[in-house]
Amino acid sequence: MRSIKMVDLQAQYARLSSEIDQAMKEVLLQGDFIQGSAVKQLESALSERYQVKHVISCANGTDALQLAFMALDLPKGSEIITPAFSYAALAEVLLLLELKPVFVEVDPSTFLLDVSLVEALITENTRAIAPVHLYGQMVSMEPLLALAKKHNLFVVEDAAQAIGSQYCTPGEHGFAGTMGHIGTTSFFPSKNLGCFGDGGAIFTNDDDLAQRLRSMANHGQTVKYQHDVLGLNSRLDTLQAAILMAKLPHLHDFEKSRRAVAARYDEALSALDGLKIPDRTVDSSHVFHQYTITCETAAMRNALKKYLAEHEIPSMIYYPRPLYLQTAYQQVVNLPISEDLCNRVLSLPICPELDPEQQDYIIHNIQNFIQKSQ
Ligand SMILES: Cc1ncc(COP(=O)(O)O)c(C=O)c1O
Repeated sequence: MRSIKMVDLQAQYARLSSEIDQAMKEVLLQGDFIQGSAVKQLESALSERYQVKHVISCANGTDALQLAFMALDLPKGSEIITPAFSYAALAEVLLLLELKPVFVEVDPSTFLLDVSLVEALITENTRAIAPVHLYGQMVSMEPLLALAKKHNLFVVEDAAQAIGSQYCTPGEHGFAGTMGHIGTTSFFPSKNLGCFGDGGAIFTNDDDLAQRLRSMANHGQTVKYQHDVLGLNSRLDTLQAAILMAKLPHLHDFEKSRRAVAARYDEALSALDGLKIPDRTVDSSHVFHQYTITCETAAMRNALKKYLAEHEIPSMIYYPRPLYLQTAYQQVVNLPISEDLCNRVLSLPICPELDPEQQDYIIHNIQNFIQKSQ
């Protein structure tokens, strides 16, 4: 049996190497390393695929968020409502821009921002809501967009973990990252669509925002050596764009394989004592960036993680602390659901390359652990 990884990028490369090598070779031969033709091709392909008017590629998903908030040009101290049970990038970017993250609780069964709690947090300083489509499915966008409209707030979607997830209710539909004013994503290697280094993109249907974002991602230039606004050097390398273009035609298959892995976990783990398999939202499809179980107690989660590691099975805690308990973003807030999830969640290996033999071994070891602890 091949060794098990959370995401097996070597196995994926082995499978797609001829297409990827060819795509990289073309860039090397063309030599258009900065803002080359593959970058433009990728932006158009994503724009068409996700039915969004503008796609602006950039250097990584964190820059995508930073550029989004730079483009909105909000007054210092503006409050942005965002989940505390999430990756650090949003909080980090907001604080760098002297904006204030206002942390909201998540739904304990879907791990997604609980939209019903947002309105109570809106003050005269609130300027935006920044939902995170965590683990591969989408926050309830229909009520969230209605609330934003009612209070005249911007919506910036963090779709780093949910590219390709599709929202579909009778009232609203759209792909992750395309429903708010601005959406962002990441092409970090382990993401569902990952490059071989850092990469990211920004989605918007707003022409003015698109123009600002494109200029800000390239030193605030509209014309070469004419700097109209403060910007960043945040361009996606042409080589990374070419790699993404080679992978993009396979993304549906990647999603299908991830769903198949999730379904096998569901079937095998749902009846086990002390474990809860992840719930699905009814609002969007799930692209299973993560398959995250919840253990009955923190002690059980930690013991299971240790047991799996002893059997050479990796697992990860996304995330061990709510953001307001991180030293860099500290705030006095009390969100018991977020804190409780941090203590009890465990993400299992999931990727298109996880084969049935490997997955049976993971499942078998989880079953053994439960049996032994009874
Ligand atoms: C939810 C979320 N937001 C933002 C990011 C930041 O993306 P990047 O690592 O490309 O900067 C990540 C990536 O890890 C993420 O998971």
